[in-house]
Amino acid sequence: CGIIGYTGINEALPFLLSGLEKLEYRGYDSAGVYVHTDDGRDMLVKEKGRVKDLEDKTKHYQLHGTSGIAHTRWATHGEPSVANAHPHVSDDGRYYLVHNGVIENYKELKQTYLSDVVFKSQTDTEVAVQLVGKFAAEGLSTLAAFRKMINLLNDDSSYAFLLVDTKTPDLLYTAKSKSPLLVGVSKSANVVTSDATAMLSLTKDFIELQDGEIAIVSKTDVKLYNEQGKSFTRKPFHLNIDPQAAEKGAYPFFMLKEIDEQATVARHLIKHYFVDGIPHIDAAILKSIKQADRLYIIAAGTSYHAGLIGRRFFEKWAGIPTEVHIASEFAYDHPLISKNPFFIFISQSGETADSIQVLEFVKKAHYASLTLANVMNSTLTRDVDFALPLLAGPEIAVASTKAYTAQIITQIILAAALAGGHTDLQGQLSRLAVDMQAVIDGKDHIKALADDYLVNADRAFYIGRGADADVTLEAALKLKEISYTLVEGFAAGELKHGTISLIEHGTPVIGLISQSKTAGLTRSNLEETIARGAKTMTIATKNLASANDEIILPELTGEMEMFGPILEAIPIQLLAYYTSLGRKLDVDHPRNLAKSVTVQ
Ligand code: G6P
Repeated sequence: CGIIGYTGINEALPFLLSGLEKLEYRGYDSAGVYVHTDDGRDMLVKEKGRVKDLEDKTKHYQLHGTSGIAHTRWATHGEPSVANAHPHVSDDGRYYLVHNGVIENYKELKQTYLSDVVFKSQTDTEVAVQLVGKFAAEGLSTLAAFRKMINLLNDDSSYAFLLVDTKTPDLLYTAKSKSPLLVGVSKSANVVTSDATAMLSLTKDFIELQDGEIAIVSKTDVKLYNEQGKSFTRKPFHLNIDPQAAEKGAYPFFMLKEIDEQATVARHLIKHYFVDGIPHIDAAILKSIKQADRLYIIAAGTSYHAGLIGRRFFEKWAGIPTEVHIASEFAYDHPLISKNPFFIFISQSGETADSIQVLEFVKKAHYASLTLANVMNSTLTRDVDFALPLLAGPEIAVASTKAYTAQIITQIILAAALAGGHTDLQGQLSRLAVDMQAVIDGKDHIKALADDYLVNADRAFYIGRGADADVTLEAALKLKEISYTLVEGFAAGELKHGTISLIEHGTPVIGLISQSKTAGLTRSNLEETIARGAKTMTIATKNLASANDEIILPELTGEMEMFGPILEAIPIQLLAYYTSLGRKLDVDHPRNLAKSVTVQ
């Protein structure tokens, strides 16, 4: 979900709507906006669907005013509907509230405090606003009522709140715990947002709220209160981001732009992490990792898949046993932990609740930790011992692409630094960037293959062995999430142990081949599927390719073979992209998903 609030000298609505559009990656099943109009009306407009639908609806109303709040939703409690969309209103109409996160004990709170209130929605959020309304009606000030409500939420709850009291509509009350929230400051207005990129057109200066703190934001001022209610000040930080980087320019979809940027991102990483040809990572990080007897990589989704590849480098180059875990599993069912563990979090957004949950555990146990994240200043980069940037620039499309390759490359550089350098890694990675560009430039051919093999298929399979098997998981995820095809990716040798029964005449089976040790075996497995009617596509590096292979990637021999996943990433992303495009789907906003999932 995404939050925006504006209070300033200009019309609020355009800022709120453009901010919501930029936040749509956080979920987009419904959206809503509240504006206090110049002539004193409290206007609430909500709509199911995309921000564009809300925008169309707002055109039917007079919404001129200089303060307001808005929200885009990703349903947790209650189906996507107008009633369940935020903002929610207290019974007496005095308070409007938007919320990100989950109030775990909302049912108990409802029973204890609000049995006399008729609820208009099925959301947990409405409980919060009704509580504020009730406590204020009992005589508390808005700040006190807001704090009292927050204090009633149990520890498992997460929230970023933005509240307006219609009696003082120019003030925005805001607070957070385990959900991101920033206050943006500028001469013409102050804003509240769950993501800085949504407000870059207005300001690059942000005050970050910590868990439990409350801010009251007015047109000219920001008042901060700590958990004990004491007021304090905090300087804004300046975000060095080019607002243009978050625009898609001439591209039809962000995803294609982001796929295209991958060679450039690789070069940024080389430039940032190498000094005089040597991988350069902060000595304190290296020292801390070297004291560890085991690495635990924790991540979700695509970042987890990047961790699977990174593991190979930490083990082979740095010689440190490494486990890779799905954050949501590890959080509640972790394995026996070694004596001196070191935790590496991998995340594009730095805000994934599943990973943050593991971080809580790591902090409590005082284990050493490092986060590799694309969004610096995010929760996962703040609450760890160390953080390293992925330097991929804003990734907007829900399906992650450039963050994935950046995550792999950053892990490679870290592993090399741990190993005390690696002969000519800079040269190798630079050549790889050239090769990545060559694969990207071949996209028309990949489009033709997507049209031929996948656009009309109801299922598909990716197979590969070793590092290629790791890539099959990401390949399947990409294709599933944006084209809604049923896809499985798995170790090629496993095919004959069950899944081969799903192969019918014309079923697409895509083989990934970049590892010399197993190339022949994967080819045999592809043959087995051909014998049962499959329509196979082979993606192979040149040195392991045969002339008939559908996609031939640049040569990767010797040690360079380990980089196979980075080159393979590009055709699997492009196949997914063109399949989604061929089906006329909204590539950047697949149904039911959110780019950053801030609930567990
Ligand atoms: C969401 C996104 C995925 C992403 C995952 C982890 O599910 O849709 O693309 O891989 O979260 O996100 P993170 O920001 O932690 O990498």
